[in-house]
Parts: sequence; structure tokens; C-alpha cells
Amino acid sequence: MPHRNREGHRKRSLAVFPGSFDPITNGHLDIISRGLSVFDQVTIAILVNPEKHPLFTVEERVALIRESYRGNDRVKVDTFSGLLVDYAERVGAAVIVRGLRAISDFEYEFQMALMNRRLNPRIETVFMMPAESYSYLSSRLVKEVFQLGGPVRDLVPPVVERRLRDKYGAAPPSPPPPRRRARARRT
Ligand code: PNS
Repeated sequence: MPHRNREGHRKRSLAVFPGSFDPITNGHLDIISRGLSVFDQVTIAILVNPEKHPLFTVEERVALIRESYRGNDRVKVDTFSGLLVDYAERVGAAVIVRGLRAISDFEYEFQMALMNRRLNPRIETVFMMPAESYSYLSSRLVKEVFQLGGPVRDLVPPVVERRLRDKYGAAPPSPPPPRRRARARRT
């Protein structure tokens, strides 16, 4: 049954999707759209971590995500520092969404989910699996492939690809040349 506030209006369900998003990838977008099929609103919460040395500043990451979701009022972008559960509580989210790509994600995610539950049992972690085609995708690999001249076109939103090009000052990686068809033998 939908939750209602004192005035009897249906309460909008809100989930927080936290992460580093350095940069956001199509795998993240996939999880967000799955989140939107269950929750009314998803807030993408970027961790501000002064100990990490990200490629994109927090402001750049916010801008890239805003650009990717321009015109979609069900997706919000925010930043946080400190404990994730405190942030979720503060913004009124009862759910944390995390993506699970493979078994290798499981141990870290399991530890985080249980620690977060211990810290605040009112907040539930929900795991969502991305499409199989994104099960190997990570921000780290996108950066590495781009830096080495590989194509990332179908792996990140177009705005991210453009900003990667700006950052590295590189020409867009060209697609592989079409295979030459074998000439018909002259008889
Ligand atoms: O994209 P990432 O780097 O896997 O995201 C990790 C993140 C931001 C979800 C995690 O590091 C986090 O929640 N940090 C906030 C600090 C916190 O709450 N720590 C205790 C919970 S384990």
C-alpha cells in the first residue's frame, strides 16, 4: 500500500544512488532507469572524498550527470560527505540503490550494506543487476580505454565522451576501418 502523509497525499518514494561517478557510465544509467521503474525519484549522490584523486572534479561530475538527465525531474543530483546513511536520512530516502555487476562486487557490497544497516536499520539497501552487456563496465576501465585510444562510444553518455576528449586533448578514437571484401577472382 502506498505511504501517505498526514494530509492523505501519497508520499513519493525516494531512493539514493550513491557513488563516485568518475565519470558516470551507461552501466550507471542502466541502474538508474531500473531504479526509476520502482521508485518515484532517484537522487544520484556523489561522494566528496578529499583523499581520492578523481579525473573529474565534483562540480564536473555533477554537471555531466545533470546534462545526461536534462528535463527529467525524477532524477536529482547531489553531493555528500560523511556517512551515507546520515545523508539518506537527511534527504528522506528510505532506500539505497546499488548496482551488482558480478560476484566480485558482492563481498564489498555485502559488507557495506550490513554496516549501513547496523548504522541505521531504517534504511534498506536494494541491489539491482545491470544489463549483461554492462556487467564488465566500470568508470576505471572507461578512463583506461579512452586514455589508450580505445573507443568508449557505447559505454558512456555522449557528453562524457566529449569531456573525456577535452580532458585528454585527444582526437576522438576512430572506429576500426571496414574490412575489405575479397576481390572477385578475374576469370
Ligand atoms: O562508486 P563507489 O566508489 O563504489 O561508491 C562507494 C560509496 C560512495 C557508496 C561508499 O564509499 C560510501 O557510501 N561512502 C560514504 C562513507 C560511509 O558511509 N561509510 C560507511 C558505510 S560502509
